[in-house]
Amino acid sequence: MTSFAAAIHLEVMSEDRIMPGTETRDAQVEEIARVTGVRAERGRRFAELTSLRVGGVIDWLLLPESEAQAASVVGALEDAGVAWRVLGAGSNVLADDREHRYVVVSMREVKGEARFDGERVSVSAGFSLPRLCVEAARQGLSGIEGLGGIPGTVGGALWMNAGAYEHEIGEVVETVRVARGGKVVDVPGREVKWDYRHTSFKEGELLLGCTLRLKSDEPEKIKARMDEAKGKRFATQPHGARSAGCFFKNPPGTGFSTGKMIDEMGMKGERRGGALVSPVHANFIVTEGEGAKAADALALAEEIRERFRREHGIELEYEVELWGAATNSAEAAEGADAFVGTKGAKEQGEEK
Ligand code: EPU
Repeated sequence: MTSFAAAIHLEVMSEDRIMPGTETRDAQVEEIARVTGVRAERGRRFAELTSLRVGGVIDWLLLPESEAQAASVVGALEDAGVAWRVLGAGSNVLADDREHRYVVVSMREVKGEARFDGERVSVSAGFSLPRLCVEAARQGLSGIEGLGGIPGTVGGALWMNAGAYEHEIGEVVETVRVARGGKVVDVPGREVKWDYRHTSFKEGELLLGCTLRLKSDEPEKIKARMDEAKGKRFATQPHGARSAGCFFKNPPGTGFSTGKMIDEMGMKGERRGGALVSPVHANFIVTEGEGAKAADALALAEEIRERFRREHGIELEYEVELWGAATNSAEAAEGADAFVGTKGAKEQGEEK
């Protein structure tokens, strides 16, 4: 099944969210922003808010500044039946070029401070993951130093169980704070399924922050391990380029590296419009130039998948999230260039 076909089977937004008419919806969003005291912006673009620097206009962008405010704003959106999605640093998202007619709740401003208490650290979802790794090392706390160079927010890392160099964030999570019914609720880390770049969190769940349980070690040793991981990353992955990290997962249970295999297929430097396979690491798609489009990156990604299927008989699974402009599957089915998120694939048994 192609990602397009799979996409049509998926619901980005839960089915019971009735989309109100545009004017009513706009009035509702304005009112929700006013009552919750959350900043609202119109006409921003995914091209400004994601690391791939492509993607269309966002109808409404809401920017809460605290965990409680974020919980209450999504609670109110839920109550009003207004479709929404949450965005962190936008470092793992490819959003399509059309106008996205749903509310994007940005967690970038929900950053606060990292609060250390013995071997624990509590941090909000919008906090920078690289900064957290540096602060933990300074405090003599080990467990996340392998994640040091991963761009993104803590919330994004939790959402997809980010990992590198032997460390995954899920291994050290004591509790995750999640928005439920407009409130902040603690979910024990052991109740969450932490898989390879995937978790049991569902579309429609907003992660607000977490408490990590780390282990004491000498700060210099931790820093040395973090520098080593960063050094490897710098040497083997594009850096400073417009990318979303690895585009595809490694084929589960095979020990294969997707990047190595794409490289061996001779696809480094392969280009579609403003998107190309990174000459540094073949599992990275990077974009270049003002004119780059999400459609270029997606066309290139689909070309890679097609060749991978032909040459290796393996169906590559997206590691980046594909965000379509449509808020329901019927709309997605109408637009040939539309695509929707991949998060629900496992829940719906679509994964290969
Ligand atoms: N290789 C090539 N050519 C390439 C890319 C890689 O020959 O174009 C070779 C490397 O030389 C190495 C092997 O393939 O011998 C594995 O490469 P690498 O160490 O880069 O590991 P990977 O499996 O490609 C995974 C993660 C990365 C993570 C690194 C380090 C996935 C999809 N990728 O990459 O995560 O940083 O290991 O732990 O799991 C991400 O999640 O976005 C990401 C980049």
